[in-house]
Amino acid sequence: MTPLPVFVLLSLVCLCKSDDRLTPEKSLNAGDKLVSSGGIFALGFFTPANSTADTYIGIWYNKIPERTYVWVANRDKPIKNGSPGKLAMSSDSDLVLSDSQGRTLWTTTNNFTSATTGTAAILFDSGNLVIRLPNGTDIWQSFHYPTDTALPDMVLPLSTNDGILMRLIAWRAPDDPASSDYSMGGDSSSDLQVVIWNGTRPYWRRSAWDGSLVSALYQSNTGFIVTETIVDRGGELYMTFTVSEGSPSMRMTLDYKGTFKFLVWNSNSSSWEAFIEHPSPICERYAYCGPFGYCDAAETVPKCNCLSGFEPDGVNFSRGCRRKEDLKCGIDNNFSTLRGMKTPDKFLYVRNRSFDQCTEECRRNCSCSAYAYANLRNGSAYANLKNGSGAADQSRCLIWLGGLVDTGKFRDGGGENLYLRLASSTVDKESKVLKIILPIVASLLILASICLVWICKSRGKRRIKEIKNKHTPQHLQNSKLNELENESIDLPYICFEDIVTATDNFSDYKMLGKGGFGKVYKGLLGGGGKEVAVKRLSKSSGQGAEEFRNEVVLIAKLQHRNLVRLLGYCTYEDEKLLIYEYLPNKSLDAFLFEILCLIGLPGSR
Ligand SMILES: *[C@@H]1O[C@H](CO)[C@@H](O)[C@H](O)[C@H]1NC(C)=O
Ligand SMILES: *[C@@H]1O[C@H](CO)[C@@H](O)[C@H](O)[C@H]1NC(C)=O
Ligand SMILES: *[C@@H]1O[C@H](CO)[C@@H](O)[C@H](O)[C@H]1NC(C)=O
Ligand SMILES: *[C@@H]1O[C@H](CO)[C@@H](O)[C@H](O)[C@H]1NC(C)=O
Ligand SMILES: *[C@@H]1O[C@H](CO)[C@@H](O)[C@H](O)[C@H]1NC(C)=O
Ligand SMILES: *[C@@H]1O[C@H](CO)[C@@H](O)[C@H](O)[C@H]1NC(C)=O
Ligand SMILES: *[C@@H]1O[C@H](CO)[C@@H](O)[C@H](O)[C@H]1NC(C)=O
Ligand SMILES: *[C@@H]1O[C@H](CO)[C@@H](O)[C@H](O)[C@H]1NC(C)=O
Ligand SMILES: *[C@@H]1O[C@H](CO)[C@@H](O)[C@H](O)[C@H]1NC(C)=O
Ligand SMILES: *[C@@H]1O[C@H](CO)[C@@H](O)[C@H](O)[C@H]1NC(C)=O
Ligand SMILES: *[C@@H]1O[C@H](CO)[C@@H](O)[C@H](O)[C@H]1NC(C)=O
Repeated sequence: MTPLPVFVLLSLVCLCKSDDRLTPEKSLNAGDKLVSSGGIFALGFFTPANSTADTYIGIWYNKIPERTYVWVANRDKPIKNGSPGKLAMSSDSDLVLSDSQGRTLWTTTNNFTSATTGTAAILFDSGNLVIRLPNGTDIWQSFHYPTDTALPDMVLPLSTNDGILMRLIAWRAPDDPASSDYSMGGDSSSDLQVVIWNGTRPYWRRSAWDGSLVSALYQSNTGFIVTETIVDRGGELYMTFTVSEGSPSMRMTLDYKGTFKFLVWNSNSSSWEAFIEHPSPICERYAYCGPFGYCDAAETVPKCNCLSGFEPDGVNFSRGCRRKEDLKCGIDNNFSTLRGMKTPDKFLYVRNRSFDQCTEECRRNCSCSAYAYANLRNGSAYANLKNGSGAADQSRCLIWLGGLVDTGKFRDGGGENLYLRLASSTVDKESKVLKIILPIVASLLILASICLVWICKSRGKRRIKEIKNKHTPQHLQNSKLNELENESIDLPYICFEDIVTATDNFSDYKMLGKGGFGKVYKGLLGGGGKEVAVKRLSKSSGQGAEEFRNEVVLIAKLQHRNLVRLLGYCTYEDEKLLIYEYLPNKSLDAFLFEILCLIGLPGSR
C-alpha cells in the first residue's frame, strides 16, 4: 500500500464525518454546502433563479432535481451584490451569518452563553438544522423557525401558554424569499384552529379541532400514508404530520399566492404534485358566503348556501343571510342540528362542560346563536396527548354569540354537528314538512272516507239488487233478514204498529228533530219501555228502497264496532223507519254523521 490511497481514504472519512455539520472550527463559505448524512437535504448559499445580486443561506432537497427550498435563514436580509458570505459558529454557540465586511446579517438566538468544545450545528435527514451540545442537548433548531414550509415531524403550535405561535410565512414571489403578507399558523385569539392570513385579515381558516385524528391520507398509486396529529404538551397543543416509511418526499408549503399546499414529489413526472390545496374552490375563502351563509362543498360545484332557517340577504351572498323568522328570546326557540359542518369562526371556548351543560350554556344566553361539542379524548389523536394540565379537561364546548361566519359543509362525511338556534316554528324541516303534509293527509283521509262510503254503498246496492231480483217487495222484510243473516248481523224487523204505538202515532211532541231526511221521534218500545229513537224517512227525501237498505246494511255493519245501536228497522207501504237506541242530548243524525266521518271508514271494511 502506498501512502496516497490512505490519505485519500482518510480525507474521505473526514469529509463524511463532518459534512453534515458545522463546528466552531469549521465554517461554511461561499460554494460550500452541508449534506445530511443520508444525502436527503443540503444546506448552503444560494441565489434565486432570477435574482442576480442577492444571496441567502437555505436548506433544499439534495436529491430532487427541481431546486426546492424548505428553509431560508436570512430571508429578509440577503447578502447583497454577490459578495461572499460566511456562516460560522460563534463563541457562545450561536450560528452567525456575516457578509464580506463582517456585518452580521442573521444569527441564531439560543440562550447559551459559553462555547463548549464539541458543540456542532448538524443538518439532519429530516431537514432540521440543530445546534447540539456534546452531552446531546439541543439548544436551537431550524424547525422552531420555519419559513414557508413544514416538513414531516416538524411541530407547529396551535395554542401555547405564552400565546406565541410560530407561523409559516410565504415567499413574496417565486424567486424572492422575503416575507410576504401571507402567513399561516395557529390562531392565538381562538385556540384549536389553523388560519391563513393576508396581512391581518384571515384568508382561509381550518375548522376547529374536534379531537379526531386530523386526517389520515392515502394515495393509492404510491401507497403512502400521511398522518396528521395533535400533540398536547402540558396544555399546549401542537400539530405535526408524519409519513409512512419509504414515502416520497412531502411538504406543506404556503406558496407566494397565499395558497396552502400539501405536496408530494412524483419522481416519474419529476414534479411536485399538490394533493391538498386551501383555499381551493372559490367559496372556501374566509367568510366568502357572509354571515349565516356557508360554503357547501357537498355540491358538485361548491357554492354558497344559507344555513337552514335563513335566506339570502340581497341578490348575492356579499351580505350573507338573514333569519326567515326573528328569534324571540326565551323558550320560543330551539336548536336545529346541522351535520357534517365546518364550525364557524369566532367561537367562545367554554371549558369543562358535558354535552348537556354545553347545550344549556347556549340555551340560557339569548345572544348565543349556535354551539358545537366534542370530546377531545375521543379522537385517535388523543393517544399522543401527554399528562399535563390539558389532559384533565378534554371537553370542547364551543358557543357562538351573534353572527356565524366562515361556515362550511364538508363533502365526504367530514365535519361535525353544529347546533343552530332558530325560532321554534322554523326549527326543523320536519315540522315545516308537517305543516304542508298534514292538510294533505287530512284531505286524503276525507277523500278516502268518501270513497269507502261510496264503495260500501255500491256493494250494498249490488247485493240488494240480487235479492230484489229474487224476491217480491212483500218478502222484502224476510229477504232483508236473510241478507242480514248472511252477514251474521242480528237486526230485528220491528212491526209498524209497534212503532206507531211507541211514538204516539208520530206525535209532534215526540219529535226530537227533523231534517232533509225526515224526522226523528222519541218512543217507548215494547213492554220494557225501552227508549228508542225512530228515524222516519220522509217520503220526499228521495231515498228509495235501495238507499234505505244500504243504510240498514251500513249501519248494521257499523254496529260491529258497538258505536251505534241500531235496534231494528221497519218498512210499511211507503214508510221506511230505522229504530235506534235513544241517545239523550244529541241529534241522532249529528251523532251518526260524526261516526261516519270519524270512524265509519276504518270500521266499514
Ligand atoms: C432566553 O431567555 C429569555 C429570558 O430568560 C426567554 O424569555 C427566552 O424565551 C429564552 N430563549 C430561548 C430560545 O430559550
Ligand atoms: C448538558 O450541558 C448543559 C451545559 O453544560 C446543561 O445545561 C444541560 O443540563 C446538560 N444536559 C444534560 C442532559 O445533561
Ligand atoms: C425567471 O425568469 C424567467 C423569465 O422571465 C421566467 O420564465 C421564470 O419563470 C422565472 N423564474 C422564477 C423562479 O421566477
Ligand atoms: C390580500 O390583501 C391585499 C391588500 O389588503 C389585497 O390587495 C389582495 O387582493 C389580497 N389577496 C387576496 C388573495 O385576497
Ligand atoms: C412511477 O412509475 C412506476 C412504473 O411505471 C409506477 O409503478 C409508479 O407507481 C409510478 N409512481 C408514481 C408516483 O406515479
Ligand atoms: C353583490 O351585490 C352587490 C350589490 O348588489 C355588488 O356590489 C357586489 O359586487 C356583488 N358581489 C358579488 C360577489 O357578486
Ligand atoms: C326543541 O325541538 C325538539 C325536537 O325538535 C323538541 O323535542 C323540544 O321539545 C323542542 N323544545 C322547545 C323548547 O321547543
Ligand atoms: C352571554 O354570554 C356572554 C359571554 O359569556 C356575556 O358577555 C353576555 O352578557 C351573555 N348574555 C346574556 C344575555 O346572558
Ligand atoms: C365519543 O365516542 C363514543 C363512542 O366511540 C360516541 O358514542 C360519542 O358520541 C363520542 N362523543 C363525542 C363527543 O364525539
Ligand atoms: C401519565 O401519568 C401516569 C399516571 O399518573 C403515568 O403512569 C404515565 O407514565 C404518565 N405518562 C406520561 C407520558 O408522563
Ligand atoms: C370540571 O367541573 C367539575 C364539576 O362540574 C369539577 O369537579 C372539576 O374539577 C372540573 N375540572 C376542571 C379541570 O376544571
